[in-house]
Amino acid sequence: MSQNESDLNTNKSDYSFKMIVIGDAGVGKSCLTGRAIKERFEGEYSPTVGFEFLTFTTIIENKIVKLQIWDTCGQEAYRSIITNFYRNASLAMMVYAINSKESFVHINQWLKEVKIQSHPDIKIILIGNKCDLNEEREVTYEEANNFKEENQVVYFEETSAKTGINAKEVFTECARLLYNERNKYKARANNSNCDSSANNISASKGRRSENNRNKGVCC
Ligand code: GTP
Ligand code: MG
Repeated sequence: MSQNESDLNTNKSDYSFKMIVIGDAGVGKSCLTGRAIKERFEGEYSPTVGFEFLTFTTIIENKIVKLQIWDTCGQEAYRSIITNFYRNASLAMMVYAINSKESFVHINQWLKEVKIQSHPDIKIILIGNKCDLNEEREVTYEEANNFKEENQVVYFEETSAKTGINAKEVFTECARLLYNERNKYKARANNSNCDSSANNISASKGRRSENNRNKGVCC
């Protein structure tokens, strides 16, 4: 086991990002996060009251990346509590259940809410949970994937909290998306620093020439 792998069990992290999990009540948000983090399925439905805070840690390019996850409740009555979390989140995971057309139709409203309440650069992903219930399917993979393509959603996948299919993978993908975005941002910041230092260099060179001219030095 590498040092980084053993650090996964501690509070250490190189990068930490905040994300929010949203979607209708009962689509499996808590079971899915629970499956990814605790690696077990808690089948009994106990609706989330307000929100639950959890962390998921993984290794990307030898760095420990931690996701701070707000698992929110889908009930209408608590919506005003959730809005407080949108503002600080770097990623929103919208979840529907593949056996509930209604929960998929409501994704339109969840998306609208994210766009109104959150930072304009927030990453938005779409998850179709309960894919083990294929015989009860009401939403096809294709229509959800089309929704993703048409709505600037950066990632879509189907999962099953019950069987574990893709549960860990989608949270790892969230970490990867945020880690890559951070690197892009850092590279842009470095480039603009280089540009401004290049400007400073030419400005100071310019001043030196001016000084030299004043001294009558030929350069
Ligand atoms: P709220 O907290 O009320 O918003 O609901 P939630 O979205 O967190 O749903 P939760 O995770 O509590 O799951 C609701 C019900 O769906 C539970 O009875 C789970 O057993 C069931 N469930 C969750 N995920 C799956 C899944 O992948 N497959 C199947 N078959 N059932 C699931
Ligand atoms: Mg819940």
